[in-house]
Amino acid sequence: MAKYRIAWMPGDGIGIDVMDATRVVLDALKLDAEYLHADIGWDFWCREGDALPARTIKILKETDCALFGAITSKPQTEAKEELAPELQDKGLQYFSPIVRLRQLFNLHTNLRPCKSYPGNPLNFRGTEVATGPNAREQLVDLVVFRENTEGMYGGVEFFPLPQSVYEALCLNPKMKPWKEKGLENVALSTRIVSRQGCESICRQAFEFAKKHGRKRVTLVEKPNVLRETGGLMTRVFRELAKSYPGIWADEANIDAICMWMFKNPQDYDVLVAENMFGDIVSDLCAGLVGGLGFASAANIGDTYAVFEPTHGSAPKYAGQNKVNPIACILSAKLMLEWLGEQAMADRVEAAVAKVIRERKVGTYDVGMKSTTMEVASEIARNV
Ligand code: IPM
Ligand code: MG
Repeated sequence: MAKYRIAWMPGDGIGIDVMDATRVVLDALKLDAEYLHADIGWDFWCREGDALPARTIKILKETDCALFGAITSKPQTEAKEELAPELQDKGLQYFSPIVRLRQLFNLHTNLRPCKSYPGNPLNFRGTEVATGPNAREQLVDLVVFRENTEGMYGGVEFFPLPQSVYEALCLNPKMKPWKEKGLENVALSTRIVSRQGCESICRQAFEFAKKHGRKRVTLVEKPNVLRETGGLMTRVFRELAKSYPGIWADEANIDAICMWMFKNPQDYDVLVAENMFGDIVSDLCAGLVGGLGFASAANIGDTYAVFEPTHGSAPKYAGQNKVNPIACILSAKLMLEWLGEQAMADRVEAAVAKVIRERKVGTYDVGMKSTTMEVASEIARNV
């Protein structure tokens, strides 16, 4: 029997291209693993009314971890229109399967390293000198810890509001203008966070900083406006910071940090945020290190983890063997680390760094013409 059982979820769109490419690298490493294909994504929604079929959940429960490519998601109205005719009137609701996976398996931590590898022409070049001949490559090495199950993406949403919720809310005098708008005109998405959720994500950010000799942990919040949820997160962060005296713990508002990171990205180190702010700031970080083609992610729970490139399914490039596989290959590197295969993880990262530096191959996003598979094969050759 293989040492590891890994659920293999290409999804749809370019998810399939980048997963095929990643497999070439894992095979070159001779990782002792059995890969179990699991269905997920848009086709299964259209055909079966479920983008995350029960058989997939079963496979995940029987494996050590999962690697996931990408899936197409669409808003509720479009989702309903594309359902198979026989499923149209069944009252089915579309839910993002990746958000569902995070909830179902309590994958509370979303780890997103954003590191610029020298030589990547897309590395951030600074705002002040960006246009001049002296434009300097600014090397960024950031890690985002995003709380992954709570906050605005926790799924507590209403439209229309149930009478009981509406009445309870209307006890608050601030609801007066909403009452006047009428129940049928009001939608509600809530930002619920727990002390446990805040504590867990902040603790992991600090622990990571301690383990890897990182100097600074920055909380990304907005407690001046989101007084209760942002306030709780901030109090928990400050309390925990006391146990890590060697680490500089500071705080920034989500809006301000987007501007500061764009000016001085190399100043930041580890960032910690609740779900939505983490989602936003991690795309910004990805932009600083070459875009989504380079951004990897790990969804980590207590006993299970799902690894995925941050990018989506880019349907217009699907099946063209054209997109950058590096984000997915770096996600596999995170998987190897989580499995305890640090030496293999290091080999993958070194090979990726070498291939980027040499610029013998590269996909269209870095201004070159290689295919997805050519880039993957070159990385595989170097591991
Ligand atoms: C991400 C994505 C997802 C999210 C979407 C696809 C549901 O943006 O992983 O960052 O918002 O979490
Ligand atoms: Mg996102």
